[in-house]
Amino acid sequence: DREDQMEPRPPIVTVMGHVDHGKTTLLDAIRKTNVTSSEAGGITQHIGAYTVELNNRKIVFIDTPGHEAFTAMRARGAQITDIVILVVAADDGVMPQTIEAINHAKAANVPIIVAVNKIDKPNANAERVKQELSEYGLIPEEWGGDTIFVPVSALRKQGINELLEMILLLSDLLELKANPNKRASGVVIESRLDKGMGSVATVLVQSGTLKVGDIVISGTSFGRVRALIDDKGRRVKKATPSIPVSVLGLSEVPNVGDKFYVVPDEKIAKAISDYRKD
Ligand code: GTP
Ligand code: NA
Ligand code: MG
Repeated sequence: DREDQMEPRPPIVTVMGHVDHGKTTLLDAIRKTNVTSSEAGGITQHIGAYTVELNNRKIVFIDTPGHEAFTAMRARGAQITDIVILVVAADDGVMPQTIEAINHAKAANVPIIVAVNKIDKPNANAERVKQELSEYGLIPEEWGGDTIFVPVSALRKQGINELLEMILLLSDLLELKANPNKRASGVVIESRLDKGMGSVATVLVQSGTLKVGDIVISGTSFGRVRALIDDKGRRVKKATPSIPVSVLGLSEVPNVGDKFYVVPDEKIAKAISDYRKD
């Protein structure tokens, strides 16, 4: 990317942590909607991506499951992200998936902000969480380290603005940029076959701008983008860097985690697909 073509882009923030420590509830509080109650057994099964706006600035959030079976999804979440929000329940403290999330973030070289959640609980102990996380190299600023800890209650919507402000502060330091003026590329974060709509692939644009009518290839799946649907279910004409969007019109359901690319024409896309099939 030429430096003069680079433009600021929103931060991609992944919410991670041990099962039931409150990741989805925190995202609910941030979006002021309610996803948790509609989830099967309150367990996050997939990566959901949402865009929120604060002071005219966008932040993209990705939710990950805490259940131990979903290690690969958390690893992927860490890789596509700029900032990890590590949710630790103040009554429970550091648990196995907390440590795993720290390891994924460190491996991907992604900075961590700690959200010490459930501070409304009578047995909450935020100091113990700090103590425990210090042993994994996450030292709070007030102890001379450089990790931001924000006490929150996702349930009571306390500390949410402070957390969002810390995210924007950190993302300013990161100077996140991408070139929107070229063919889009990015990664598939969700995919499914819909009875009516056919293949639906939710992608995160990492570079360029994805538009209706573009020719996309992802793995062996390809096709002309028939429609783009944003995280609020609205049809949109394009998606710029960092923005998640669902793509309709692909020949097959692409694999989650695969890269996607916009190519000049359908012949090229088909040739790449045929080549990959052999
Ligand atoms: P998985 O996706 O299954 O890993 O769980 P999660 O981390 O997304 O947790 P979830 O948001 O589903 O919350 C688990 C439980 O904790 C739910 O019953 C929430 O209501 C509760 N909970 C979440 N945040 C808080 C909080 O701040 N205070 C209290 N008291 N309960 C909370
Ligand atoms: Na849960
Ligand atoms: Mg969840």
